[in-house]
Amino acid sequence: MKTFDGPPDPTSLTRRSLLQGAAAALIGLVPGNLAALSPHASAPPPADKSKSFPDQFLWGCATAGHQVEGNNIASDLWALEHVPNGMFPEPSGDACDHYHLYAQDIAMLAELGFNSYRFSIEWSRIEPAEGQFSNAELDHYRRVLAACREHHLTTLVTFSHFSMPLWFARKGAWSNPAAPDLFARYCERASKYLGHMIDFASTFNEPNVPQLLNWTTWASGPSMTETFAQALTGARAALNAPEFAGFFLGDGKRIRDGLLASHGKGKAAMKSARPTMPVGFNLAMSDDQPAPADNHVAEKRADIYGPWLEAARTCDYLGVQAYTRAFVGKKDLPPPSGAELTQMGYEFYPECVEGVVRYAAKEARVPIYVTENGVATDDDTRRIEYYRRALTSLKRAIDDGTDVRGYVCWSLLDNWEWMFGYAPKFGIVAVDRTTQKRTIKPSGAYLGNIARRNAL
Ligand code: BGC
Repeated sequence: MKTFDGPPDPTSLTRRSLLQGAAAALIGLVPGNLAALSPHASAPPPADKSKSFPDQFLWGCATAGHQVEGNNIASDLWALEHVPNGMFPEPSGDACDHYHLYAQDIAMLAELGFNSYRFSIEWSRIEPAEGQFSNAELDHYRRVLAACREHHLTTLVTFSHFSMPLWFARKGAWSNPAAPDLFARYCERASKYLGHMIDFASTFNEPNVPQLLNWTTWASGPSMTETFAQALTGARAALNAPEFAGFFLGDGKRIRDGLLASHGKGKAAMKSARPTMPVGFNLAMSDDQPAPADNHVAEKRADIYGPWLEAARTCDYLGVQAYTRAFVGKKDLPPPSGAELTQMGYEFYPECVEGVVRYAAKEARVPIYVTENGVATDDDTRRIEYYRRALTSLKRAIDDGTDVRGYVCWSLLDNWEWMFGYAPKFGIVAVDRTTQKRTIKPSGAYLGNIARRNAL
């Protein structure tokens, strides 16, 4: 799906072209350079229809603002990165400087063969102080969207990907009774300004993660929930903000209720600004499989997906995001002994995508898009293998009639992976964080080639 119901911003095009010229030099991106990476890059679509994905299938890469833009200084996370004894091993800093290098990154993504880009806009840039909206920052995202349009990329835009304005966090974040109205005001403003260039809008990235963490078994040391509880106490003291809370920090039940209400109001605000804009959200899911004994799959699903799948039924689509499977007992069991583990400690299990889309499509009854799937590894041959198996399994589900309309990998770039800093490598493109030089990995050429052919 592509909407072209608004004029491009001509001033941005001039600036973009300039940036792009410089950027192309930075990555050595010249016509034909990608073809050298992949012998199949210009191959015609295969005659073998059994390998093809549905017409108009979306193939994309995802990023999230705070993880790639750099210097997102009015956000809660930037503050948390700088409190003493905080929860992050290293600050995000310049990240991938995508804030300035977006034009080259988008050109590279398109040249690789993808037809869509999923990214997030940063509320803390757009509304750095309560009620004070920045047209300059809205213009920035308009230029990002214009770059996508120039390359004929469908745009999937997340309005909230974990980070939020510091002023909002200081007032209790999603537990603040005023949160839904504050979020809706931002959604309305951003949709009015940018909506005509957005093909798929999402209110929230993985709003169910706070609940999901309660089901996770931690190998050793304090659990993530304990780490978050300590971080919250430390942050409140260091920031002298007794009400401070965040996406992960605070009372889980209140956060969930606040996020559900904020999704509802945010979605209504987006629709009031642009009624035809498809709106949904992105759910974190694992392929839940029963533990050999004492299986609690149904209970887990009701707890972490239930209210969100209900919300999805009133959306235009649902984005699902999967990385591995979980054997569910009273909690998720640790990965089976001897299983190959990723840099995140997850079991290497690409077929999770198949289980997740089958379940989500049945429950949500709206079109499904895989909006994140990928693997953290230093060994790019394992990444290629991961994508090969993931897509083979996805194709099986589609061939069986599951309504899946797109696949977006995580991630375009090696980026700042939250509590893990820069160590895990999810990107199909490596980033030298001193020079900001991009290097396309073989997995980038591999996946781009599948995207271009719309076939395995
Ligand atoms: C998040 C991303 C994250 C990725 C890999 C998802 O939970 O949406 O921001 O980097 O997983 O861990």
